[in-house]
Amino acid sequence: MPHSADLLWGAVGDISRFAALLTMAELGVADHLASGPLDTAELAARCGAHAPSLHRVLRELAGMGLVTAAGPDAYGLTEKGAALRSDAPGSVRSSIRMLGEEGFWYAMGMLPATVREGGSAFIKRYGNLYDHLARSPGASALFDDYMTARAAAFTEGLVRRYSFPATATMVDVAGGKGHILATVLRANPRMRGLLFDLEHVVEHARRTLADAGLADRSEVVAGDFFAGVPAGGDVYLLASVLHNWDDEDAVKILRNVRGAMSPGGRVLLLEVVLPDDEEPHLGKDIDMRMLAIFNGGTERSRDEYASLLDRAGLALSDVVELGSGANLIEAGRR
Ligand SMILES: C[S@@+](CC[C@H](N)C(=O)[O-])C[C@H]1O[C@@H](n2cnc3c(N)ncnc32)[C@H](O)[C@@H]1O
Repeated sequence: MPHSADLLWGAVGDISRFAALLTMAELGVADHLASGPLDTAELAARCGAHAPSLHRVLRELAGMGLVTAAGPDAYGLTEKGAALRSDAPGSVRSSIRMLGEEGFWYAMGMLPATVREGGSAFIKRYGNLYDHLARSPGASALFDDYMTARAAAFTEGLVRRYSFPATATMVDVAGGKGHILATVLRANPRMRGLLFDLEHVVEHARRTLADAGLADRSEVVAGDFFAGVPAGGDVYLLASVLHNWDDEDAVKILRNVRGAMSPGGRVLLLEVVLPDDEEPHLGKDIDMRMLAIFNGGTERSRDEYASLLDRAGLALSDVVELGSGANLIEAGRR
């Protein structure tokens, strides 16, 4: 078979493999296999599943190296599959469940319609993602866990490769569950932090910061960044925020940040910066999700971020690679 056809059929196979993975995550297969192999009938009973159907999914998962045969009709968990256990460090279970959530699945399937019409089919059915999440506590909790798991890949790089001013107050704008702020404060014991996000999200952030023993050095404020952001911070972090918005909205958010920051303050954008080439890139994959879910949300190149900052009265001063495809873009008042 020619190479190009292999590539195409490989992409088709990815859909089946993702569906099997989603089934594993949804049914909690890895949790049920955590204490040892089970035969399919017993596993199906524990998962509340139809045994013959589950058997077929397990066969696909075995081909992916996530489970392995442990008898004529029994399966055990492999080391790779253990990453789907709910209690695994950096567990990917919630992330898989989020990416397979009804709205997200729908959005990807409707990408041709979105591209034809130039407006997100997801928005037409579900409205803005964050309004959808505010109405769906289950999906919202999965989304926050997904963002936390994604950030785990680069927060280590953030605290190792960027020098935060020792006694700065950092405002984590749209900081989600507080996972990034907690890592920065833990690594910088004289810094203080303020997390700002929507009303239905901040409760989770409060818990994360309290559980990390950081309640006395942090504050949590609910609000809408289009209306304004808390004033007086020295560092304003916007992690995976601007890529959800079109240029007009992104500039509005940045102007609000510029107006709020202390003299000499810095803005830090944590994003995947698109390269100017035709190689496969994480940012190009994420961009398909932005295209499908948001009207105007987009991954951007370094020059495009520089231009947004410029329109908001800010100047790009540095770009630091954090690993795992993430970059930190630093800016100050122009
Ligand atoms: C992609 S998540 C990023 C979360 C976190 N910064 C991270 O990197 O893990 C975007 C965040 O923007 C928040 N958000 C969306 N609209 C907002 C608004 N109008 N005002 C404040 N926060 C908002 C969401 O609740 C969500 O936590």
